[in-house]
Amino acid sequence: MSSAALAEPEALLQPLGSLDVSDPAIYAQDTWRPLFARLRREAPVHYCAESRYGPYWSVTRYNDIMAVELDHTTYSSQLGGIQVEDQPADMQRGSFIRMDPPRHTAQRRTVAPVAAPNNLASYAAKIRGRTRAVLDALPRNETFDWVDKVAIELTTMMLATLFDFPWEERRKLTYWSDVAICNVNAPDAPVHSEEERFAELLRMAEVFKGLWNERAKAPPRLDLISMMAHGEGTRAMPEMEFIGNLALLIVGGNDTTRNSMSGGLLALAENPSELAKLRANPALVPSLVAETSPYQTPVIHMRRTATREAELAGQRIRQGDKVVMWYISGNRDENAIENPDAFSVDRAKPRQHLSYGAGIHRCVGDRLADLQLRILWEEILARGLDIEVMGAPTRLYSNFIRGIRALPVRIAA
Ligand code: HEM
Repeated sequence: MSSAALAEPEALLQPLGSLDVSDPAIYAQDTWRPLFARLRREAPVHYCAESRYGPYWSVTRYNDIMAVELDHTTYSSQLGGIQVEDQPADMQRGSFIRMDPPRHTAQRRTVAPVAAPNNLASYAAKIRGRTRAVLDALPRNETFDWVDKVAIELTTMMLATLFDFPWEERRKLTYWSDVAICNVNAPDAPVHSEEERFAELLRMAEVFKGLWNERAKAPPRLDLISMMAHGEGTRAMPEMEFIGNLALLIVGGNDTTRNSMSGGLLALAENPSELAKLRANPALVPSLVAETSPYQTPVIHMRRTATREAELAGQRIRQGDKVVMWYISGNRDENAIENPDAFSVDRAKPRQHLSYGAGIHRCVGDRLADLQLRILWEEILARGLDIEVMGAPTRLYSNFIRGIRALPVRIAA
């Protein structure tokens, strides 16, 4: 039986050795909390000998996750990739998030300026204008899906800007993001096998190749395709790496921020006293944005592979072992964070979380994500929008992205 199907107290009675937090059902059903609380308490670095993804270690406490993040020579991103589930051997799509230095360093350096602080200012006015237009066009006194009309719409617009992608076709980016990240076993997945996924990603690469060729011939500009087409570490990428990096940037820019936009709305609906604080003091918006990040934890885990034998919190990790950092658990670690399960818009240290990772792979788009979220909340508050959540969220069947697929809401006129 899957652990998600167990009632919470029953889950706690399972033998410790058989706890398997890689089961995507526990995220679709949102029943992961007691499982991780038990791991943090009883076996903070835990070995799961049998899972559908093979044996793996779970690292569940904040400080231990940080130790793995900061030791990239012991814990490689390149040897086995970044997810507990391996990519099929003949469909490996290398990208710089799946590389170690020095290749990682060269490719990251090429694209990182797109979201560097000095460029963010140039996006802010554009983001604000679009956010206003999207909010003003929302239906009133009528139930609609917040995810589709707001979260996906705004993040896809941003992504189209980052790539300078044909505007009218921007929803293709949303589709490819979903294709790249979905669990092919989910009933509502856009593709249902690794072969189908790969075929769609090849189609995506064809579209991007056209744009790449145009931009390679033109002078360098500040868009991701142009930056890669001219960058020293990226301009001669093999096709699989081209596909991998496109998928990385599309998912990075899309699937994550979208879920913070939806997760934040849900969190405020569930915590009306926090919404009242925010309404009374809109200067709390940056703190709300910081708080939403760990509360939602859009990226559930990152995986590493041990390059050598090592010790972690008293456990002996062998060379070649899969080591999974569960951000979703580290963000709830009572040993490191005060009152970690609460949603609080005036927390003393709101930026102490793992949602953007740490170390050499720390998210390159964190400031851009925060900027989009800040502007969204500022504009919602400025309009005094009264947004009521009308039903339960539909959650993504995935152990990697903590996604909200649909969220019915209604705005009072
Ligand atoms: C709420 C929004 C976001 C969340 C929660 C998020 C989360 C993460 C996480 C957890 C990592 C891995 C960190 C690690 O391994 O230590 C990462 C890496 C990355 N993110 Fe984000 N991200 C977000 C938004 C974005 C945006 C908007 C972009 C693009 C502009 C982006 C692009 C990337 C890239 C390229 C990497 C790979 C960095 C590397 O390997 O050096 N992310 N992100």
